[in-house]
Amino acid sequence: MADGGEATMESRGFYNRHSTLQAAAAAMATSWLVEAADEVPLPEGAGASITVADFGAAQGHNSMPPLTEAVGALRRRTDVPIQVVHTDLPGNDFTSIFEAVAHDELSYLHGHPEVFPYCIGRSFYSRLFPRGSVQLGWSATTTHWLSERPARIRGHLNAADAPPAERSAFSARAAEDWAEFLWNRAAELVPGGRMVMVEPCSSPDGTLGAVNTSGLMDEIIAELVDEQRLTEEQALDMTLPTYLRTPDEYLAPLDESGSVRLVRSELVDEAPNPMLEHFEATGDARTYARDMAGSTRGWAGHMLFGALPPEQADVEDEFFRRFRAKGEADPERLHQVVHNVLMEFERPAT
Ligand SMILES: C[S@@+](CC[C@H](N)C(=O)[O-])C[C@H]1O[C@@H](n2cnc3c(N)ncnc32)[C@H](O)[C@@H]1O
Repeated sequence: MADGGEATMESRGFYNRHSTLQAAAAAMATSWLVEAADEVPLPEGAGASITVADFGAAQGHNSMPPLTEAVGALRRRTDVPIQVVHTDLPGNDFTSIFEAVAHDELSYLHGHPEVFPYCIGRSFYSRLFPRGSVQLGWSATTTHWLSERPARIRGHLNAADAPPAERSAFSARAAEDWAEFLWNRAAELVPGGRMVMVEPCSSPDGTLGAVNTSGLMDEIIAELVDEQRLTEEQALDMTLPTYLRTPDEYLAPLDESGSVRLVRSELVDEAPNPMLEHFEATGDARTYARDMAGSTRGWAGHMLFGALPPEQADVEDEFFRRFRAKGEADPERLHQVVHNVLMEFERPAT
């Protein structure tokens, strides 16, 4: 990724502590993962083992509930050893995954014998497993991160806010990446193996849900440039390498591909946002602003500010201080309710 570093989350467990939004998305697809675990073909015989893959695990905490339920479902069916493999980019905070696996109270290691955790530090836009070796795959809130930033956009961090001509480079990159992701997973799954995903997406007409935080973030970056705390070049390098595909952009290649078969999909118009729900119940703007600043820093902090030189080390703190203050003053600017698409696909058995 040019200059901005990898699309990894804020490190040292920060993301684990500030990702209730992503946890809520994962919760929507957990029952699908369990049902897939109930149905995937199981290996038999001496030396057999099951592989469960978690693509884009970040720091692991949000993977624990779905994977623990899936491991439980598999264990009810078989005593075969289970390998759980968490994958993410090389620069990811893997230490936090190992800590989550060891200490998280919801870890799949508790109460389940013969379960073995591993990590892979490599992009999921490449092959990560031997052909035909994965029984069950999981990926939550991941593939909207593109393999690279296809363009830099002036004035907007998010391509969705840019004019159509500038957006098209992102949709083209997203289409290529998604095809790559599908080909690789199709090769890795065993015949009859299943993959369950939940991904943020745009609406069928390409518009986003209420992502008011985008405008707030653009405004603060512009202020920091005006005040010469960031250069124009640095602001351009902060264009996020993300794109929220339409449901059709996700599902059409699945329908058309002979190598994977869409088992089911569901569009969720308004994915839950626990921070917004708390605000609506209490009117507590201070807590809402603190939590949305934490959440935004969790997924965007490293990407935006990770490449700044040491003499600008205070800019990240200043950005999120302003984010919090402006959000507390006008909580509507914090609202973030996006569409999500749930997908389950399988490698056909024959
Ligand atoms: C928003 S986090 C979601 C993490 C977790 N699945 C969850 O539900 O909380 C997105 C994760 O995808 C990872 N990611 C982005 N691009 C990736 C790629 N090309 N290969 C592997 N992981 C990637 C990021 O590093 C990050 O950890």
